[in-house]
Amino acid sequence: MAHHPRVFSGVQPTGNLHLGNYLGAIRNWVTLQANYECIYCMVDLHAITVPQDPKVLRANTREVAASLIAAGIDPKTSIVFVQSQVSAHAELAWIFNCIARIGWLNRMTQFKEKAGKNRENATVGLYVYPNLMAADILTYRATHVPVGDDQRQHLELTRDIAQSFNSQFGVECFPLAEPVIIGTATRVMSLRDGASKMSKSDISEYSRINLVDEPDAIRQKVRKAKTDMEPLPSEPAGLEGRPEAKNLIGIFAALAEQPVEAVCREYGGSQFSAFKDALADLAIAKLGPITAKMRELRDDPGYVESILKDGAARADAIARPILREVQDIVGFLRA
Ligand code: TYM
Repeated sequence: MAHHPRVFSGVQPTGNLHLGNYLGAIRNWVTLQANYECIYCMVDLHAITVPQDPKVLRANTREVAASLIAAGIDPKTSIVFVQSQVSAHAELAWIFNCIARIGWLNRMTQFKEKAGKNRENATVGLYVYPNLMAADILTYRATHVPVGDDQRQHLELTRDIAQSFNSQFGVECFPLAEPVIIGTATRVMSLRDGASKMSKSDISEYSRINLVDEPDAIRQKVRKAKTDMEPLPSEPAGLEGRPEAKNLIGIFAALAEQPVEAVCREYGGSQFSAFKDALADLAIAKLGPITAKMRELRDDPGYVESILKDGAARADAIARPILREVQDIVGFLRA
């Protein structure tokens, strides 16, 4: 059975969105709207797999929703909503907890990174996080999932769960959702360390550019970005073994919507100082309109909340009948 094409993706409301979120995922979410039915979710159930301050979580959920709209998600055509407001996610996740195997979850690199050395102390929620992600996607029978490269392994697990459910019950209930990982910045690295991912949880503000940063902050962060001593190479091959240079050129190429080759050709032989000025100008020009729209939306919290309420109702209308079907397949008695 061919499944109707549908896009689903999610973002954790755990802080400001940064350039990694934008270039790795959200910009692609905007593009996909032209050709697909799209569903975009603030995943607060995922956020609480590590401790959150309740007030901050609530504020961040509104703020991240506003960022998506500011970045170009159209809430009239796409569905924008909060995960905890559609209970099918948690209900299907429980069923998937009874499909996924401990061995599969033990292979998840993100759990190992997030749990760190003290794994015994990580929450059970953090461990089964990928099962909830599979439920997010499959409760809509989504076929395409635009994400950054760091989510690739979770998407593989989603396919394993779908396949295992289908074969255990002898049904074609769930599609095998494809990751959509496109662009030259599918893995944006920290500005302070070319070996670690740009992340909301990095303690250094200088490691990331946030969508809400003022122009001065963007310029300062770019100027302070770690580099090496060599001038820039004129071909991409010259970026090997130079993670910081590779990251900055990758960001430039993604923002300018040019291939990395073209950026190397233009800036090959330049010193970092000149390149950084051009990169800061470009980032300010590209992010400025988003920041301005964010400010407008901040002054109108009622508007954002009305979008989320409408989004939850539309999401629920799709998810509920699919969950009902799954419950029948599993053998639950109807209420
Ligand atoms: P989250 O909130 O960490 O990030 C949201 C999106 O941004 C991408 N991303 C990056 N891309 C490139 N470079 C980076 N440095 C970078 N940092 C983040 C992520 O890949 C992601 O696409 N588990 C997910 C949220 C989630 C989800 C889902 C996604 C929950 N359920 C269902 C897709 C489908 C996460 O923590 O994303």
